Order: sequence, then structure tokens, then C-alpha cells
Amino acid sequence: MPLPLLLDTDPGIDDAMALLFALASPELELLGVTTVFGNVPVEQTARNALHILDAAARPDLPVVAGASQPLARPPWPRGKFHGVDGLGNLNLPPPARSPAQWPGGAPGFIADTVLARPGEVTLIAVGPLTNLAQALQRQPRLPGAVRQVVLMGGAMFCPGNITPVAEANIFHDPEAARQVFAAGWPLTLVGLDVTMQTCQTPDDLEAISRVDTPAARFITRILPVYLESYRTYHNMDVVPTHDPSAIAFALDPSLFSVQRMPVYVETEGRCAGQVVADPRRQWSPLPEIDVCTGVDSRRLLARFHARLGLQAGSRRA
Ligand code: RIB
Ligand code: CA
Repeated sequence: MPLPLLLDTDPGIDDAMALLFALASPELELLGVTTVFGNVPVEQTARNALHILDAAARPDLPVVAGASQPLARPPWPRGKFHGVDGLGNLNLPPPARSPAQWPGGAPGFIADTVLARPGEVTLIAVGPLTNLAQALQRQPRLPGAVRQVVLMGGAMFCPGNITPVAEANIFHDPEAARQVFAAGWPLTLVGLDVTMQTCQTPDDLEAISRVDTPAARFITRILPVYLESYRTYHNMDVVPTHDPSAIAFALDPSLFSVQRMPVYVETEGRCAGQVVADPRRQWSPLPEIDVCTGVDSRRLLARFHARLGLQAGSRRA
């Protein structure tokens, strides 16, 4: 039986790769997509999600738009890391359909969908955690009804990517992250500690560009801007596999090593958005979550590429 899945996302180039990865995985049954502000404003993340579903020929799946700003602070000024439109400057015309209207928007859709199938639905979030925090505020029974929660976010034992200590998804709404971590649901964090170890090279991009599947064709159009941003802003000639790693965890947790530990989210001052791990339990009581601390990146990328349609060995050594 495929795993029923909800994806909360802010597309975003790596979000697009994550969504296409999920759609190409028969082990997963995507029930819908909720979007949040983040890489671009929420109206644009919703439009982008619709475009990605169109590219995958899945116009049947609902896209529900959610939070346009963080819970308790002004939004951080936007960059162009993912292109002006969030999809590698494709500048696509408006999508053929509009986002679905749902009572309570994305938080309402998340709560209603999870509660309709108690114990079954996996919730994956790869953007700021505002929609999840609002879903928890709306439906206190949510933690007991979800199967598992997988989040791309945090930098516990490595540098941040938006400040020296903070990863972008947590940084964009630290108050929401604090609430989501404290909810007492089965939660796994797939953060920069593992996603920065799982990088695609220009050779991978070239290999993807030779594949004739809808997912590979779409990724070929958007990935060059992401690669250029990593070159420009991080001096790296590779792209980390952030959001697809959360999908990979849902598909096969054995790709990762996981440690359970207390975590604290800083919300003040220059370290706002930092997720502090407390493995020695010196500050307990703190919420305890599962944190991915290691990854078999070769196996993860092989799986991702296979799902895009790459034949084993089609990448140059
Ligand atoms: O830090 C990586 C995360 O922030 C990813 O979700 C990516 O989409 C980004 O903006
Ligand atoms: Ca994202």
C-alpha cells in the first residue's frame, strides 16, 4: 500500500525536485500540496506548485495556499536565489487552474486531511513551518492523528545557510518552528547536516538533461539557475539536495543515521533561527525529536536519479 502523503512547500527549485521525486515514487500517494511563503511570496509558491503538477501531468491534485508571512515577525526581504519567479526564471504564463479554496486555507487542509485518515498520513514540510504551526493551533488532535512528520530544516552540527547559525526554513519563522518541534508528534529533522553532504554536480545536470521524462525535462530547465546561485553566493560548484532528501527519508529511512535528541529553537537576536541540539541533555526538559546526522548520499542520489529516469551508470565518473 502506498504511503499517503501531504507536502507543505515553498517552490523553489529544490522544492520542485522534491515534488517531482514524490510523484515519480509509486511507494507514495500524494494527497495534495500546501504552499507557504519562503523562497518567493505565497501567491507565487502556489502558482509554482500548479506548474510543477502540470509538468508531471497531475492536474487532479489540489494545491492549497497558506501563510503569507511568519507568525510573529515581518517577513525577511526576499532574494533571487531560486530566480525571480522561484522556478529558475522560467517566467511561465499563469497556470490554467487556480489554487483550491479550503476552509482555513492550507492549515485547515492539513488538519482535515490528516484527521480524515487517523494514523495514516505522512506530513512532509520543506519550507517555513508557519502552516504546520497554524494547523496545530487549529486542531489540537493533529499530533495524535498523524503517522509521521518529516521536515527539511535546521543546521545542528554544521554552519547555517542564511546566517552563520541558521538554516533558511527555520530562520524564516523561528516561532513556528518552536511550536512544531514541541508538538509531541513523531518528527524527524532532515537538515543541512545531511543535505549539504548530498550534492549534485554539473555532470549530474548534464546527465539529467539527456533524459526524456517530464520530470527530467522540467528539472533541466530550472536547475541551472540554482547551480549559478550556489556558485555566486556560496562559492560551490554543486547543488545540495535539500528538499528531495525529506522525500528520500519517507521512502527509505535506512538511507540516514538518526539520533534522538532535545532541541531548542532560538528566536532572539543574531542567533534567531538557530536550532540548538542538546544531545547531553544539559538544558532538559526540551522537546525531543529525531535528527538525521548521517546519510548514504550515493545511494540517495542513485535513487533520486533513477526516479527521474536516469539509467544506472549514465553519469560520467
Ligand atoms: O535551506 C534549504 C531550504 O531553504 C530548502 O527548503 C530550500 O527550498 C530553501 O529555500
Ligand atoms: Ca523549500
